[in-house]
Amino acid sequence: MSDLTVDAAAEARRLSRREFIKRVIASGAVASSASFVMGGLAGCAPARRQVSGAVERLVSINVNGQLRRVDVLPQETLAMTLRYKLGLTGTKLGCDRAECGACTVMIDGTTYYACSTLTHGVRGRKVVTVEGLRGPDGELHPVQQAFVDELGPQCGFCTPGQVVAAVALLQKNPKPSREEARHAMSGNLCRCGAYDNYLNAIMRAAGNLTEIHHGA
Ligand code: FES
Ligand code: FES
Repeated sequence: MSDLTVDAAAEARRLSRREFIKRVIASGAVASSASFVMGGLAGCAPARRQVSGAVERLVSINVNGQLRRVDVLPQETLAMTLRYKLGLTGTKLGCDRAECGACTVMIDGTTYYACSTLTHGVRGRKVVTVEGLRGPDGELHPVQQAFVDELGPQCGFCTPGQVVAAVALLQKNPKPSREEARHAMSGNLCRCGAYDNYLNAIMRAAGNLTEIHHGA
């Protein structure tokens, strides 16, 4: 194969990886690994079960700026409602027990684990998921764009939660140091170990370019 052909093949791989990352970051679309899916669904079983004698209720919750009417079981978690009733599958279920951060959403501007938040508890509050971060014309949020530019994710499973956590961080602290960002993101685990990529992206989104690639 000529050098030109090799270069073209490498460029095509690089572009398709960028395209994959864009899709992951914009909507959380990702081919979940079996272990992630099994872990999430197995752990969700108790939340699905209706408590004896309890009554199902139709509630309105504000998600991504829209009032959504949904039938919610008494002990249903927000992650279950978002994913399986509202079709917002960008919110991932990893551990389903408040350990990994894959399910991170913002509620009134603060991050929460949706797997450990009861949907009935968010009535009257504003929920933002990764799907709600895009601009009115569909453009990526600057943090999402920075994640793309830094080719942040590896498998992409943890990425929606990482993006939401990063947006919440920069809303509260627009110019964090790398160490502050590392601390703020410590509730979001990444099995692929892409932590430095994510920190680079956060530094880029914060305009703190001198701290990109300088962290350990
Ligand atoms: S799924 Fe792991 S913290 Fe929610
Ligand atoms: S990119 Fe794979 S789990 Fe974080």
